[in-house]
Amino acid sequence: NDKCTMAPENRFDCARDRVLSQKECEDRGCCYAPLPDTAGPPWCFYPHLYPGYIMGPLSPTRRGQAATLTRAKPSYLPKDISTLRLEVIEESAGCLHLTVKDPSYPRYEVQLLGEPHSGAHGKTDSQDTLYSTEFHPDPFGFMVRRKSNGRVILNTTVAPLLFADQYLQLSTALASTFVSGLGEHYTSLRLDLNWTSLTLWNRDMAPHADANLYGSHPFYIVQEEDGFAHGVFLLNSNAVEVVLQPTPALTWVAIGGILDLFVFLGPDPQSVIRQYLQVIGYPMMPPYWSLGFHLCRWGYTTSNTTRKVAQRMHAANFPMDVQWNDLDYANKRRVFTFDPWRFGDLPEMVEEFHKRGMKYILILDPGISSTSPPGTYPPFDNGLKRDVFIKNTTGNILIGKVWPGPTAFPDFTNPETRQWWEDCIRDFHSKVPVDGLWIDMNEPASFVQGSVEGCPDSDIENPPYTPRVVGGQLNSGTLCMSAQQRLSSHYNLHNMYGLTEAYATHSALVKVRGKRPFVLSRSSYPSIGQFSGVWTGDVRSDWEQLRYSIPAVLQFSLFGVPLVGADICGFGGDTTEELCVRWMQLGAFYPFMRNHNDKPNAPQEPYVFGKKAQAAMRSVLNLRYSLLPFLYTLFHHAHTSADTVARPLFLEFPSDPNCQTIDRQFLWGSSLLITPVLEPGVEELAAYLPPGTWYNSSLCDSSPFYSKGQYLLLPALLDTINIHVREGHIIPRQEPALTTTASRGNPFFLTVALSAGGWAWGDLFWDDGDSLGTFETGSYCYLIFVAGQVGKRCDGYLCIQVFGVPSPPRYVLANGEKVRDFTYRSDTKVSLLNDVFTVQWA
Ligand code: GLC
Ligand code: GLC
Repeated sequence: NDKCTMAPENRFDCARDRVLSQKECEDRGCCYAPLPDTAGPPWCFYPHLYPGYIMGPLSPTRRGQAATLTRAKPSYLPKDISTLRLEVIEESAGCLHLTVKDPSYPRYEVQLLGEPHSGAHGKTDSQDTLYSTEFHPDPFGFMVRRKSNGRVILNTTVAPLLFADQYLQLSTALASTFVSGLGEHYTSLRLDLNWTSLTLWNRDMAPHADANLYGSHPFYIVQEEDGFAHGVFLLNSNAVEVVLQPTPALTWVAIGGILDLFVFLGPDPQSVIRQYLQVIGYPMMPPYWSLGFHLCRWGYTTSNTTRKVAQRMHAANFPMDVQWNDLDYANKRRVFTFDPWRFGDLPEMVEEFHKRGMKYILILDPGISSTSPPGTYPPFDNGLKRDVFIKNTTGNILIGKVWPGPTAFPDFTNPETRQWWEDCIRDFHSKVPVDGLWIDMNEPASFVQGSVEGCPDSDIENPPYTPRVVGGQLNSGTLCMSAQQRLSSHYNLHNMYGLTEAYATHSALVKVRGKRPFVLSRSSYPSIGQFSGVWTGDVRSDWEQLRYSIPAVLQFSLFGVPLVGADICGFGGDTTEELCVRWMQLGAFYPFMRNHNDKPNAPQEPYVFGKKAQAAMRSVLNLRYSLLPFLYTLFHHAHTSADTVARPLFLEFPSDPNCQTIDRQFLWGSSLLITPVLEPGVEELAAYLPPGTWYNSSLCDSSPFYSKGQYLLLPALLDTINIHVREGHIIPRQEPALTTTASRGNPFFLTVALSAGGWAWGDLFWDDGDSLGTFETGSYCYLIFVAGQVGKRCDGYLCIQVFGVPSPPRYVLANGEKVRDFTYRSDTKVSLLNDVFTVQWA
């Protein structure tokens, strides 16, 4: 049969929903051709032109164009929907938006939280769009092309569209094999297309391969040839499975909601990310102190232990801004309480930290203990009164089990719940003036399946098709799918639980503290970057997890969550001294830097290690602190322009093919290249340097390297993390100190890496670091530095370091005046200007 003749890698699975016999397969009108292996290409697959929907004519609508899709005969799926409405909206020149819905029965649709960016719906003249579309009426399918070169970006004619009540499927050919995104999974930056499947279903699960993890981000970016890139976002919060095959092609399967698809045309990868963030919202501006070092563990069992940790850190001269407590502080592990015996003076402890210029954060789980005697635990009592908890199908409060035992779960989609949450936070904050909140277990996690009473048996609990998830069932490790939330069922809302909690917590902190909020969440969904940072959960203390923390962090950059990091030195299991040194070195370049440890493990605070290890950790902490003005400026650009902070090389060097897959190195912004050691016993390693001049440096000693785009072997003794500064860039820095409260008063200095042509550029965003909306209200200072005319408008003085000055300068001018005090080292070709510049504010 001709229709069945095709290369195995071009087969699209006709039996994804269940295993079929040859007869059952052929009864579906599909082709059956067994192969030696069951893992690779499907045995039962669609023939060419498998009958499906037929598309009617396109007609104009308020926002774009629409057409009706109908099918003569229902598909093989239960509750098939035979009439659909397709709408095609040109949101902007670089963004195409397609939806497919049931016109006769409203279905659940995701409502994104917060603000899309104004660029998302820029009116366009279709003349100007970067894309063109073509529709194939029978069987229905469509293609999206990049206008400039005719390249096909999406082609859904490769397999039929399916749309049933609990099974939506759309396949597309891919323009290349360089695909990234679709988190949260334990993968490389470049995804494996060899018949892999990635499930998006938020789950409390220590990171490992082939598992659905804490967050869901149905977004991917494809690197095309010649430096172009495009992205695709499926706005759907139901369980989603994405199948990748070597064709190359991709299949979306969602088990609810609608098809709501955005296509971003770039044309370069950074523009793709910006276009995506225009839809889901730009990231928040973090408080300056939150870019300092954070120290945490489970097992700081008293306030005195906690105090001592912070004291020992500073006594050993380790910079550190934020001390944390895990569950230990809480009375019987109940949130919004503190243990009267072990943490009776928690309020005083926090005040002491504040006096020393430090901050304090503690953990807040969403589960509210439901078994305290009535009248003794206000969060539950008031929550009951105000009807804030998620209900089961019989209308009773759903009870699961988390750390304190039986718990109820707040429904953050209910405005009353958000108000109650704010009241709980305000009341607690009036006693314990925390500076930020760590929201954990918000997948939400539960130690019983569904609820203490189990779950009813229904199509929503056990859908006709369940994507491959850890535990085998959707309600494994979480709530019943049939649980009722204000907005919809938990089946539809599950993936957004952490997002809705982050939103409520962020808003509450704004109201209660009146300052820039800090929230750290484990679970995530698109748009969470507007409200919160994310950490990558319970990573193990081993070298493989160290290495995969880089793609994990970089993926969150693509998802609009720049404030991200992994638990430094590892959370699970005992670390080793060497691993912990290397992890502190890499962690000093996570945008969010926290060392955190599980209860039973050997301690891993920097001061517990030997002298050499401590020296290495101290030096990299000082390096990070000296770079905080630069890091902060990168966050400003993320907040205002959707730039990335920790940046994959392919984003910065899209037309360098060597950069397409690199995920053992990364950049800060466009100018700092980080090459950490990721293996034990290593004293040198190969670093890829994209074409151009790079200054290898501990940032005070420098030697230029003129790269043609090549690997270079570098020494990497235990005290070394290799950092390269890119030519043409100026990095604003500040003398480090033990806290950012202190370092913010220190002198600034600049690291200048001149280009071959002898110029360099850099900038600094500077404000009070803690107030709300400083950019929006104009309460900031923004400096641009250009080599040769350095030093405009900032208080304090600038000590300027210039790399790559070919010969000793005869004199140096600052604002036209001769600088009296400068030095030059002919060995390293670094010029140092130590003059004091007095600068005034306008
Ligand atoms: C359990 C919990 C998980 C937690 C871990 C701590 O596995 O499910 O959330 O991180 O214990 O060890
Ligand atoms: C979860 C968190 C972990 C925390 C623990 C106890 O496992 O992921 O970071 O320490 O719970 O609260």
